[in-house]
This record gives sequence, structure tokens and C-alpha cells, in this order.
Amino acid sequence: MFMYSHADVVRGSPAFDPLSGPASREGPSAPVSARLDRRAGAAVDRRPAPGVRLRVGVIGASGYVGGELIRLLGRHPHVDLAGLQARGREGTALADIHAHLTPLDLTVDAALGDGPLDAVFAALPHGTGADALPGIARDGTTVIDLGPDFRLRDPADYPQWYGFVHPAPELLAIAVYGLPELHRDALTALADSPVAIVGAPGCYPTTTLLALAPLARAGLIADLVVDAKSGISGAGREARAASMFGEVNESVRAYGLGGHRHVAEIEQELAAVGAAAGMAPEANPGAVNVDFLPHLVPMTRGIHATCHVRTTRPVNQDELDALYDHAYRDEPFVTVVGEAPATKHVLGSNHALVHVRHDPRSGRVIAIGVTDNLVKGAAGQAIQAFNVVHGLPETAGLEQLPLFP
Ligand SMILES: NC(=O)c1ccc[n+]([C@@H]2O[C@H](COP(=O)([O-])OP(=O)(O)OC[C@H]3O[C@@H](n4cnc5c(N)ncnc54)[C@H](OP(=O)(O)O)[C@@H]3O)[C@@H](O)[C@H]2O)c1
Repeated sequence: MFMYSHADVVRGSPAFDPLSGPASREGPSAPVSARLDRRAGAAVDRRPAPGVRLRVGVIGASGYVGGELIRLLGRHPHVDLAGLQARGREGTALADIHAHLTPLDLTVDAALGDGPLDAVFAALPHGTGADALPGIARDGTTVIDLGPDFRLRDPADYPQWYGFVHPAPELLAIAVYGLPELHRDALTALADSPVAIVGAPGCYPTTTLLALAPLARAGLIADLVVDAKSGISGAGREARAASMFGEVNESVRAYGLGGHRHVAEIEQELAAVGAAAGMAPEANPGAVNVDFLPHLVPMTRGIHATCHVRTTRPVNQDELDALYDHAYRDEPFVTVVGEAPATKHVLGSNHALVHVRHDPRSGRVIAIGVTDNLVKGAAGQAIQAFNVVHGLPETAGLEQLPLFP
């Protein structure tokens, strides 16, 4: 396990920024919004002064997640969208890439733009952020990566699950998994940290972990099968035969058999939830080698995760209700519901709905989670984490209700 301190990480900074990221914060162009000072020993404070808006950039602005980030950040009360970057898009009107964002009247460039930024959101394919983002983070900008490159703590997971050797393994030890419901304290601590990297969770893990966390905390997961479904936007905007209307419509298909990549972070975080509650890994044996099977279903947005759990001891519905109520009663974006929820109940919003049911006949517990993969499963959750890191109200920019029907 890597045990680098923040000071080691900052001192080891290479001047590496292949995406032409923001300029150094040193000198007169240092930002006014978050009070970052790179002099040795100087205190760091990412919280903006009252009334000051944070300067924020989006890398990968042309994709589905990039577009969703811009849609939400474009109306965020504490943010100025100061740089939108996408490959080969110098001076392109945002409206030409995302027609629905025409009212924002913004431009996308091939580089991130001039001047220091307080935070950068990156929505890039795996392996791309690991190269591009360390230089930006070491320069003091908060980095929120929506790809998987900073989600996993063990560097050995990257060759195993993603097929590349991580170029900055020392940063994995200090990056925070950006699920605020599980890691709010660690995200809050990044406000005073010289390097702040958030590995925003995947959409399937977000939904699955929110459904299962109360059971893991109580050491109740003896055996686990996760049966999950995703809408087609989960596959991104890049054209692929398997994503074409004629191949997806009126059809359902399982994929990722034998080990979908998201298993790695589901196992990592179930272990972390248990450990935070004082549970040894053997307390939740079903969370060690998770049986996770995703399916592609013919809808645009939405994740639905049904978790079938055999428990380590007998439980009843009252105990489950108390566990889930305790876990989520103060959470702004997670609601425990008494009936099985639908993906349409969260469409376009940062809300997650969770339902738990004990089946006395089979003895199993069924825990169901639903989210919008592009909001709570991606852009909304990343903004929620950003709000926490910068000391803003956690719900800022995320208060819209779901669309229905
Ligand atoms: N879709 C979801 O529901 C979801 C949810 C959670 C997390 N994520 C993660 O978020 C990231 C983005 O997903 P997405 O769905 O937005 O994908 P997407 O629609 O395919 O967009 C990918 C973006 O990355 C850019 N890009 C591709 N290859 C690149 C490279 N080699 N160098 C620089 N830029 C490159 C693309 O630019 P071009 O336009 O030039 O191709 C585009 O802007 C992925 O890591 C994904 O796993 C997605």
C-alpha cells in the first residue's frame, strides 16, 4: 500500500499537462475565488469567500457526461463556467455540440482556457484522466474525475480491471471516492489539502452501494447477487453498432459476464463501509467476491440495481426499516421508499431511491436502488462532491425535481 503524504505528492510534481490545463497559481494571476497559496507551509483553503464564484472547467465537454456537467454547472449559483475543453473543438459553439445547451451561449475550445481555475471536472475514457489530471491537481486545482482513474485505491487493480498501469499510483492513496453519503468527512477534509482529487463513482456502483451500504455496515451480507440494468446513455455518445437503435430497441441483453469493471469499486467500497463501522471483511463474506451482472435495456437514462442478499443471521422487516432510516434520514439526495421504485421516479435529478424488503418465504433480503446514470450516477454526484470539497451547500445547483412521465 502506498503511504505518501500530501507534501511528497506536491514536491514530486511534474510539469505535465497534455490538455493545456490552467496556468500555475503562483504569481499575480492566482485565483481570487478559493484562497490557495502555494508558498511552502502556507495554509490552503478551497472555500470561497462569501459572494465569490468559483471558476470551473470541464474536460471532455463533447460527451454525454460532459454535456450534463455543463447543463448543471451552467445554472450553479456559486460557479462561473470558465473553460470548456474537447478534442479538436477550437472555438466551436457549444450549441453545435449540444443543441439543448444553446441558451448558455458558450464556446468549446481544444484547450482548457486561460487563467487559473478553482476546479476541473473531467469526463474522459479510462486511462486518459490518469495521464492528464495529475499535473492539474498538483497545481492546486481541485480535480473531479468522472472516469475510473482515481476511484480504486490499489494500483494493482488498474492493470487487472482496466488494462493499464497507473502513471501516478501515489495519488491513488490520497484521492477520495466521491460518494458523499459514504465519504463526506474525507471530501470535507480536501478543502484544506494542497492536492484535492475526487474519483467520482460509476453509475452502477453508486446505485448498488446506496442500496447495500446499511446492510454492509451491520455485517449482514452473507451472499450477494446484484442484477443491474442500465439505459443506453450509460455507454456514452461514441457511435457503436451495439448502441444503435435497431440493436437496442425492444431487446434486453446481459453483458460483462465474468466480471464487469465496476465490480472492483463495489467490492472496495463495501469493504470500506464495513470497516468504517468496525466490521472485519469476513463480517460480510458475500461482499468479498461480488456477483454483479449488468444488462442493457432500451431506455435513454436510468440505473436499476436489484441486490439479492442472504443474510448472516435472521432479520425482519422492522430491523431493516430501522437500518435504512438511520442511514438515510438526513441525506438530501437519498430517499427510502416503501414500494419498489422506478427509474422514471428520478429522471433528470440527483435523487436516488432505495427500497428494502425482507422476503420471509425465501429468507432473502431484496435491496433495490434507482438513479439517473447521468446525474446521481455521474455529473450531479460529481457536483455534490465538489460542493462538499469547497464548503458550499451540498445541494447547490442540484435542487431540481425529476421529470415525469
Ligand atoms: N455515461 C454514463 O452514464 C457515465 C456515468 C458515470 C461515469 N461515466 C464515465 O464518464 C466518462 C465519460 O463518459 P461519457 O458517457 O460522457 O462518454 P462519451 O459520451 O463517449 O464522451 C467521452 C468524452 O471523452 C472525449 N475523449 C474520448 N477519447 C479521448 C482521448 N483519447 N483524449 C481526450 N478526450 C477523449 C470525447 O471526445 P470526442 O467528442 O472528441 O470523442 C468526449 O468528450 C467515462 O469514463 C465513463 O466511464 C459515464
